[in-house]
Parts: sequence; C-alpha cells; structure tokens
Amino acid sequence: MPIEWDPAARQWHLRNERMSVILAVLENGELGQLYLGSALTPGVDYRHLARGPFHGWENRVGAPIRLELPTPDTGDYRQPALAVDLPDGSQAMRLRVRDHRILRGKPALAGGMPATYVEDDVEADTLEVDLVDERTSLVATVRLTLFRDHPALARSITVRNDGDAPVTLRTLMSASLDMPGADWERITLHGSWVRERHVTRAPLTPGRYATESLRGSSSLVASPFMALVRPSTTEAAGEAIGVSLVWSGDFLADVEVDQYATTRLRMGLHPDSFAWHLAPGDSFTSPEAVVVHATDGLGAMSEAFHRLYRSRLARGEWRDRVRPILINNWEATYFDFDEDRIVDIARVAAELGIELFCLDDGWFGRRDSDDRSLGDWVVDRRKLPNGLETLARRIRDLGMTFGIWIEPEMVSADSDLFRAHPDWAIGVPGLPRTESRQQLVLDLGRTEVVDHLAGALSAILSSAPIDYVKWDMNRTMTESWSGVLPAERQGEMRTRNILGVYELYRRLTERFPHILFESCASGGGRFDAGMLAFAPQAWTSDDTDAVERLRIQWGTSMVFPVSSMGAHVAAVPNHQTGRITPLATRAAVAAFGAFGYELDLTALSTEERAQVTDQVAWVKAHRETLQRGRFLRLIDPFAGNGNDTAWMCVSDDAHHAVVGWYRVLSRPVPGPSAVRLRGLDPARRYQVRVWPETDDTLVRRNSLVRGGDELMTVGLFLDDEPREAGVRGDFQARLFELEAV
Ligand code: DGJ
Repeated sequence: MPIEWDPAARQWHLRNERMSVILAVLENGELGQLYLGSALTPGVDYRHLARGPFHGWENRVGAPIRLELPTPDTGDYRQPALAVDLPDGSQAMRLRVRDHRILRGKPALAGGMPATYVEDDVEADTLEVDLVDERTSLVATVRLTLFRDHPALARSITVRNDGDAPVTLRTLMSASLDMPGADWERITLHGSWVRERHVTRAPLTPGRYATESLRGSSSLVASPFMALVRPSTTEAAGEAIGVSLVWSGDFLADVEVDQYATTRLRMGLHPDSFAWHLAPGDSFTSPEAVVVHATDGLGAMSEAFHRLYRSRLARGEWRDRVRPILINNWEATYFDFDEDRIVDIARVAAELGIELFCLDDGWFGRRDSDDRSLGDWVVDRRKLPNGLETLARRIRDLGMTFGIWIEPEMVSADSDLFRAHPDWAIGVPGLPRTESRQQLVLDLGRTEVVDHLAGALSAILSSAPIDYVKWDMNRTMTESWSGVLPAERQGEMRTRNILGVYELYRRLTERFPHILFESCASGGGRFDAGMLAFAPQAWTSDDTDAVERLRIQWGTSMVFPVSSMGAHVAAVPNHQTGRITPLATRAAVAAFGAFGYELDLTALSTEERAQVTDQVAWVKAHRETLQRGRFLRLIDPFAGNGNDTAWMCVSDDAHHAVVGWYRVLSRPVPGPSAVRLRGLDPARRYQVRVWPETDDTLVRRNSLVRGGDELMTVGLFLDDEPREAGVRGDFQARLFELEAV
C-alpha cells in the first residue's frame, strides 16, 4: 500500500520505489513534515524525525520546526504557506488535524486548475488531510499525490470558509518544504526576451532569496521552478529536489534559511498580486506544485519531470505522437504576404519533405503591423481574397497540413472589438492604460469575454481544414482591475484572468481535439507547466540563433521535455543576433526540439535545398528517439567558457541514441577531448555514425563499432590530434547516431 497510515504513531508514509514522504500529527495537533527523500522502509515509526530545533522561547514549546502548512504570527517567524485575514482582522490561527482520507488515484482539482492526472487509479494514491482552526472554522485541506511510477509528489491546498463571516486569503503556497540543514545550492531559471531560462546556481545563505513574476504571466524573466541540490550534485550524481508550479500567471518561489540553518522552500501564487475573498461556504483551490526527488543527479530530476509532464500533464491526441516538421512564415515575411507568396513557400516546403505550414501573425483584420486588429478574428481579404479555406486547401493539395497563429487574449485599441467593448480591456478607470506592443489585455475573468472568444475562434477554426494553432500572448499586465468584480474581490482579478485563459483553452482543445496547439508568449514568456496541460508544445524563444539556443534549450530542459520545445532553423544573418552560423549547425540544434523551419525557403540555393531535404529526412528517421526517448545533458554551456555543449537522447530500450555536440569557437592546438555518454547499455556494442558525414578527423575517428561501456567511460572523440581540431571553423556542430548491433 503506497500510503500507509499508522494510527499509533499518527503518521502517514507515502512511498513508491524511489521516494518517501512522511507526515505526522504533532503533539499539539499541527501537521508536521517529517521527511521527503529517497524511499524508506515501510512499517516503521518515524516520529523521532520530528525532533529538532524548537521555537521554544516563542511560546511554542514542543512545536517542531518542520511544518506542512505554516501560518503567520504564532511563533514560526519564517514565511508562511497560508495567511488569511480573519473576520476580526487578525491572522493568527491554530490549524489542527481533524480528519484524513486516503484515495486511490488522483482527483481533479476544483476551480479549473490544470494538474497532472492518472489514467488508471493504480497509478497514484492521494492523501487529503483536513486542518481546522476551531476559532474561525477555517478548513484547509492539504492534498498530496504520490505517483507509482515517478519519483514525484503533487501538492495542492483547498481552503474553505466554514465560518459565518468572510475572510480573505492572502498567501497560499502550493509547495512548502521544510528541510533540516542548509547544505544546499539553489538552481533557478532567468532571462529576458530572446534569452529565456538561463540557469543560475548558487549556495544558500542565511536570509531569503526569491524568484518571481508580477507580470501577469510566468514571464520571460523568471520561471516557476526551483531546485535544491547538494554542492556536490552533478548531472549524473547526487541529490536533487526540483519544484515546478502548474500555473501560468504571477508566482513566487523563495527559499529561506533561518537562524537554525533550516531551509524552507515555497512556491505558489504571488501574495503581492493575489487576495481571494472567501464568503461563508466558499472555497478556493491552489494551483498544483510538483516536487521531484532524485538521488542520481540533476539529469535524473529532469528526466522525472520530462516523463511525468509528457505523459501525465500534457494531454490529447498529440500527447504521444511525434511532432510534424513545420514551416512558419514569420521570419520569412513578417506582416507582408499574400496567398500566392504563402503558397510559394509552402510549395518548396512540400518538396523538401516539410509536413505542416503555420501561417503566423497578419492574416486577420487589417493587420499590416503590430499596432492594430488584435481581437478582429476575421480573414483579411486584401491578403487572402479567397479566405483561409482556399489557402488551407491549396496547402493540403501539396501534401501538407495547415495551421494559424492567434493571440486571443489581447485587443488592439485600433480594432472593431475594442470599439464595441472598450470595457473588456483591463484598466483602472480614470487612469491611462499602459500600452505595450500597442495592445491591451482582455479581461478573461469575464465570462462574456471567454464566450465571445470561444465563439469567434471556433468559427475560424471550423472555417477551414486547420490542424495546428500557435497561440501567442505578447504583453505583460498593468493597471489590473476588472469591471465585473467588487472592490473586495479585485485581488482575485489576475488569478481569474489566468483561469479564464485555461477555460478558453479547455473549450477549444475539447472542441478541436485533432488540432496540435503550440503556446507562445513573445517566444518563451509563458513556457510553464500550466500551459503544457493544454498545449503539448511551446515556442521556446524568439531567439532563433543556433548559438543562443544552446543555453535556452539547455535551461528549458531542466523541467520540460524535448517534444515540448518548438525549435526552428532560421535565416542568417540571424534576425536577433546578426550571427552567421552554418545551416547544418542550425538544424543540429533545432533537432532537439519540435523541429521546424522559419525562413524564406524560396530564397535557398539549390545546395541549401539539398541540405534541408537531408535534414528533414534525418529528423524524420530519428524523431521517435529525439522526442520520446530519454534526454540527457552532457556538456554544460553555462560551465567554464561555455564553448562546448553536448546532449543526447536515448531510446527507452537503449537500442538507439542520438548525440548533439556543438562548438562555438574553433581553437588552435586543442589537445585531445571527448564527450562521455550516458544511458547506454554497457553490455551492448553500438555502430556510431556521424552526421553530416563531412571529410574530417572527427568523422573518421568516430565512425566505428564501440561498446556502450567504452562510450560511457571514454566517450566520443571531439579533438584527437593535439595540433588539429577535429572540426574546423566556428559555430560547428555534429550529430552522432548510435545503433546497437
Ligand atoms: C511573437 C512570437 O514569439 C513570434 O514567433 C511571432 O509569432 C510574433 N509574436 C508575431 O507577432
């Protein structure tokens, strides 16, 4: 039984083969967090783990320091997981365990929160513990699900007001982990537009460190993810605890080290932009946090996220399918196109083996630039006189499928929608609205807005054979105020907005189950687990430069699988950096993602067309391993001078693997170097092939049959001759294919 309740010890032990989580009712009735780590023996009383430093002089004699749901103002001076403005204005509560339930499977979350799921009740067990503050009748239910096949715990909280006066939720943290000791380093992901999810690692120090977003979305700048690792943890060895939030709006993740050197990690809705009014009888359910524990390195932590998120967070017809190779016209044409121009690009794409055409921004309203027409989801007949249907059919006749770009959550001031419903745009009456990209955010907390968008977009999506949608979102939120909420509920506005986005996604994905949705937010500005619950892939970054992409894709892979990362080959000089990289290098980077092209294919030379034909064929031949195999990071672009990067994908049966190796600048007199592989079968022998098959020492030295053991201990040869670089020139890459013989 994976969840063991020991009535004598008053202890719960959630356990699978790799992970244990232990909770207990403490002497004073509070819910204590005893342990989270690798699997411990069942049937054992672990209450002794509750001992430790005490806040004795703070009048909490006997209250241990590790709490499941800490609240403020009762002696634990660290940051709380739950803070409520109670009817008399105080915040002090005594939350005591009243009840618990052990459930087979995993219940869906209330209130429209996306979450991980099971397909069969045997895949997980769930513990729900009700805590009650007797004085105010506030009930908090902590919900913990441990998966059978993943070292992963899902946690959410529901707070219900059983009292007879309203209260306001101020802080509600989906994750709150109390760890003994502070011998950890934190890993977080940061960036900006065209530089998303760069990895930062630093030791914990006394005090508090936060990573957060108050931009209305999870953002380009920070990510709702944090890992704690031991100082000695590497990709392949050592302890790692990763926490990821299934939420796409404002968030706070922080880690606090107190005077006893204990560590508290929290993650959840950002308390600065969240306040939820709970009338008597009302309840609110937090987003879900997913906690992964790994003993064998950061790579194992990421792999657990990849497997869980790919199979039990993503959903729908596309979840388990390899992704079509796509051509997107954005960087080829921007807003300047017409039907024939699009068909010209599509014709070349079809000849090269590309499978799907995405018509990006500019096909609707009078959208000749980004300062108008968002909200007017009707075809621009000046550009597409025969409508989407004819265009889609012409592309289908070429043997490809067709999809479109939309940005449903926004409205341009210059649009028919805004002229008809100015009050649908978010803004504070009497205050100018801050504009960003000349657009405003629609209030998706209003049902009529969601209804309108669902109607308008359903009409478009059923007007033509559309198999793919790129759902963009291009601005942050400001002047947050909703015309349909009373003053005491304005603190709910940003949360309701994201719930409205989810509701719109839910309606469209249910109505059009065959459509592959790709989320996007000025690139990877909303690449989060909440979006992945609706769209199985996301546009990773507007930065299509192959060199920049190495770090972006490496950082994104901390949590997200290869199949979820939209990655395209673009033109050179690159539109974001001006860098000129070889076509082969651009493809070798994009191959480790949902692969596609984003350039004017009609402008390619004959030789380049031949190369693209080759690339497309190569990705088709290997995408099962690339998108559905294990992804392992090998050489870290954030380490040292970042000149080399390597990663690999290996099939679950270890029969087949693909390795990508990338070098930014060529160095003279390099000396011998190699990249050691992981995840192979040490007892098998592999035929190694290098692609592209250029005439250089790297290809000659590596095209051999070698043992899995040797490839994991010695590795593939990068430079061999001390005086001659294996690969010459800057911005080089090679793909290695390994096949068991
Ligand atoms: C931002 C996206 O990230 C781009 O790929 C492109 O779709 C533009 N928006 C279109 O406006």
